[in-house]
Amino acid sequence: MTTPENIERLMRPEPKAMKAYTPIEPSDVLSQRIDIPAEKVVKLDGNENPYGCSARVKRALADYPYYHLYPDPEQRELRKALAAYAGSSPEHIIAGSGSDELIDLILRLFVEPGDKVINCPPTFGMYPFSTDVCGGNTINIPREPDFTIDVAAIKQAVDKRTKVIFIASPNNPSGNLTPEPEVLELLETAAVVVIDEAYSEFSGVTLARLVPTCSNLVVLRTFSKWAGLAGLRLGYGIFPRNIVKYLMKIKQPYNVNSAAQVAALESLKDIDYLRNTTTAIVQERARLLTQLRELDWLEVYPSQANFILCSVLNGKAKMIHQELRRKGIFVRYFDTPELQDYLRISVGKPEHTDILIAALREMC
Ligand SMILES: Cc1ncc(COP(=O)(O)O)c(C=O)c1O
Repeated sequence: MTTPENIERLMRPEPKAMKAYTPIEPSDVLSQRIDIPAEKVVKLDGNENPYGCSARVKRALADYPYYHLYPDPEQRELRKALAAYAGSSPEHIIAGSGSDELIDLILRLFVEPGDKVINCPPTFGMYPFSTDVCGGNTINIPREPDFTIDVAAIKQAVDKRTKVIFIASPNNPSGNLTPEPEVLELLETAAVVVIDEAYSEFSGVTLARLVPTCSNLVVLRTFSKWAGLAGLRLGYGIFPRNIVKYLMKIKQPYNVNSAAQVAALESLKDIDYLRNTTTAIVQERARLLTQLRELDWLEVYPSQANFILCSVLNGKAKMIHQELRRKGIFVRYFDTPELQDYLRISVGKPEHTDILIAALREMC
């Protein structure tokens, strides 16, 4: 029998060398840690949707009779419904187990060890994570102080080994959009430009209509945020047809489980419910923004998404994060080179805003 050390020697070097992703933790784990009942936890750290999915979706999940059968590997019904919702056609669509899976699949299609992927931090951590898994080389082109992307620097960084450029719009965690003319400039390069629109429904802006006319534009979307289905994992992308052809080849046949497909299809049939909860979140975002701006030790950034980024000017972000945690209020704390002393607060229900603001007022 061999040894654990010999087994490690068999592994690829990239996974061994890379940094692990830091995911958020679920409510029940958080509630056990701080000894507060799960229903009392105010969870504003994951940009999830506090309203959840509609009653119709829950009924459809309960009534579905075919969980013992594999789902459609071609995702025919789902792709048709997603295309109708996104104003596209099914030949341009692929669904994934969250948009995380699509980020991974795109990189597995394009990136060989040593190839370059452009990332614009501060941004969503899965782009460098999945690049690392493929052995790719993440080229960081930092955002400007106001979190806009540096188009000239990105274009200058693109060379023959650059395969993919990732831009989240609205960006997580800064909440700002990248304007269409800037995306058009990036499309002039030979790289695949992935516009990650995970928060599109909260901004009302999408570039999906451009995909059929651009051979290098991909738009990613998800049901985790506006549709309240983060736990079921359903993302999709709008891709040029030839990219769809190869992604369909390399994806796992049954990558989107039946429950996620049922929930997504029923969500789209009950679209008024989702439009109402999205509107409630957008309205609450405005109220939360106003209330946070009343705290003079915070610099609060405008947001087109379902979260708000704040720079903590008194250097006490870590203390505030921990103190909120003790009270059962969870927000995201950043202490990275680009974001020192920042908090990102997801938009919850009005009562969550009230609890959070009262706690913050008490603190400083
Ligand atoms: C910009 C961005 N893209 C993608 C995702 C992941 O979405 P999904 O749950 O569909 O994997 C997130 C989640 O936080 C995100 O912020």
